[in-house]
Amino acid sequence: MAAQNKAAGRLTIKAIAALLLLAPFLVSPTYGQQNSSCVTTFDPTHDYFPDKSQVDGGALFSITYNLNYKVVKNTSLNTTYILTQCGTPAPNATVIPPTNTTVFIQIPVTNLASLATTAVSYIEMLGKQAAIKAVDTEGLVSSPCVQSGLEKGTIVGLEDTNSTLRAEQLKKYDVIFSSFGTEPGSENKTVITSEVEDPSPLNRAEWLEFYATFFNAEKAAQALTASINNNYNCFKSTATTKATTKPVIAWAMYDAPSVYNNNTPSWILSGAPYKRILSTDAGATFFNGTTASSFSTSADFATAVQSVDILIDESVAGSTFDSFLQNYNLLTTTAPGTTLKFIQNKAVFREDGLVNPNNGRDWFGGAVAMDDAVLQDLVRAVHPELFKISQYNWIRNIAKNEPEQLLTSANCTAADTTSPVPDRALSCANLQAGGSGNGSNSAAASLNSLASGVLMLTLGVFTTLAILF
Ligand SMILES: *[C@@H]1O[C@H](CO)[C@@H](O)[C@H](O)[C@H]1NC(C)=O
Ligand SMILES: *[C@@H]1O[C@H](CO)[C@@H](O)[C@H](O)[C@H]1NC(C)=O
Ligand SMILES: *[C@@H]1O[C@H](CO)[C@@H](O)[C@H](O)[C@H]1NC(C)=O
Ligand SMILES: *[C@@H]1O[C@H](CO)[C@@H](O)[C@H](O)[C@H]1NC(C)=O
Ligand SMILES: *[C@@H]1O[C@H](CO)[C@@H](O)[C@H](O)[C@H]1NC(C)=O
Ligand SMILES: *[C@@H]1O[C@H](CO)[C@@H](O)[C@H](O)[C@H]1NC(C)=O
Ligand SMILES: *[C@@H]1O[C@H](CO)[C@@H](O)[C@H](O)[C@H]1NC(C)=O
Ligand SMILES: *[C@@H]1O[C@H](CO)[C@@H](O)[C@H](O)[C@H]1NC(C)=O
Ligand SMILES: *[C@@H]1O[C@H](CO)[C@@H](O)[C@H](O)[C@H]1NC(C)=O
Ligand SMILES: *[C@@H]1O[C@H](CO)[C@@H](O)[C@H](O)[C@H]1NC(C)=O
Repeated sequence: MAAQNKAAGRLTIKAIAALLLLAPFLVSPTYGQQNSSCVTTFDPTHDYFPDKSQVDGGALFSITYNLNYKVVKNTSLNTTYILTQCGTPAPNATVIPPTNTTVFIQIPVTNLASLATTAVSYIEMLGKQAAIKAVDTEGLVSSPCVQSGLEKGTIVGLEDTNSTLRAEQLKKYDVIFSSFGTEPGSENKTVITSEVEDPSPLNRAEWLEFYATFFNAEKAAQALTASINNNYNCFKSTATTKATTKPVIAWAMYDAPSVYNNNTPSWILSGAPYKRILSTDAGATFFNGTTASSFSTSADFATAVQSVDILIDESVAGSTFDSFLQNYNLLTTTAPGTTLKFIQNKAVFREDGLVNPNNGRDWFGGAVAMDDAVLQDLVRAVHPELFKISQYNWIRNIAKNEPEQLLTSANCTAADTTSPVPDRALSCANLQAGGSGNGSNSAAASLNSLASGVLMLTLGVFTTLAILF
């Protein structure tokens, strides 16, 4: 993980850290090429994992390296994944007693099923998408290359209703990534993850290091998390120190009447820690209500949000500004109605800026891992004066009729199945220098190139340095 973010804010320390960080990139000409094949002749004295991740204390998992196996522990649940290098012996029962909370997996994983839309994004960012052989809720997957794989039949959409058939399908995969639990028959190969429940945006990115252990992709994961951290902190630092105002932002949802809520509509303000942190880091004041956060009439809601300058509508339905006004019953010209500040300001956003043809939102895919790009979207919404950012990813302004951007299989332009899917973030440092934010973008730099590997860390470190003065 990016040591430079944690070092004390002294120039000298930063400069030394910069050199130390660059060193591995300068001496490692095989950067980006991870081992993928099985060991043919096992040498019990050889370290098969030269690249090791250092996981932050705040993370929900820990990684311990042994010569030919890794122990990845779920620190909240006490479950253990023993990841043994293919072609080498799994640790002895005397070393690792097999229990019903210990899952043995051979790595690198080449044949997996993903039951969560988020896992796909992490795996693609690591350039390991070739291992994805099946996905669940396939209609909602936004990844263009997974959509393409589903169309070509190289990726299977798992059966939803026939559980016998589904269990038969799941037998075919070596590892199953899930966010909900295990299914009968696949307990001994299921890995449960919960990046979306992680309250801190940067911890969410840290999950790249969790996924990387299954593919021996630690080096790529470390570079990505360092880059995301630096770029995130650059946006954060600019938004929180350069902006002269802290506009009030609320994340709201209209829960339409349905069988799930007794046919009773409600209007709800979110207090999710993740959104609070993002809002604050974007230079906004987070608002989740004063006395209540859930309202049974739209009038009560409208009265409660009179101080709100910017509103993010998280409702499932209603993708246009007109339908938003209808859902929140704000069409009236009498106060508060259309006089609300976020309506006057034309500052109403939704998270569906990137969707697949079934309206499957990439907000539940790429946005979970690419936290610098999410903050970039939010800074653009809260402080448009700080950077000249014309494009958006997920957070689009419906009051200004910004359209949804469609992701289809045609958008799968990767050269091959080992090209990492780039982070969508623009380079904050490049934007500050007057650039368009792309090109030498720290976060989007190709992981296949030694040169850009050096460049992206250099930019990141310089950015951090620049902010100190
Ligand atoms: C990975 O590559 C490194 C460097 O070439 C090597 O030392 C190591 O043994 C390899 N590991 C595996 C599992 O092949
Ligand atoms: C976790 O595992 C350790 C070792 O197997 C055991 O001693 C401990 O009681 C477990 N803790 C919980 C909360 O299950
Ligand atoms: C497993 O443990 C037994 C008993 O301690 C030992 O004899 C054997 O060599 C071990 N095997 C491996 C592969 O470490
Ligand atoms: C593991 O086994 C213990 C008792 O042997 C049982 O109480 C526990 O529920 C089991 N856990 C799982 C995850 O199956
Ligand atoms: C469910 O799948 C199994 C296995 O493919 C098949 O034998 C069975 O007929 C299916 N059941 C239904 C209701 O389609
Ligand atoms: C998991 O359990 C099944 C039997 O339920 C067994 O056939 C399979 O080999 C086990 N897989 C692993 C990785 O231990
Ligand atoms: C640990 O278990 C909890 C509870 O099931 C789950 O939410 C979390 O995702 C797990 N973490 C890892 C790293 O497996
Ligand atoms: C807003 O969030 C804070 C912090 O989570 C919480 O203490 C407070 O009760 C919330 N406000 C409302 C009105 O629910
Ligand atoms: C997807 O590809 C189309 C061309 O096939 C392009 O016009 C569109 O901008 C791409 N969408 C995104 C979100 O990149
Ligand atoms: C890079 O920036 C230019 C504007 O300066 C824009 O036209 C172009 O689409 C951008 N490219 C990407 C990949 O974002």
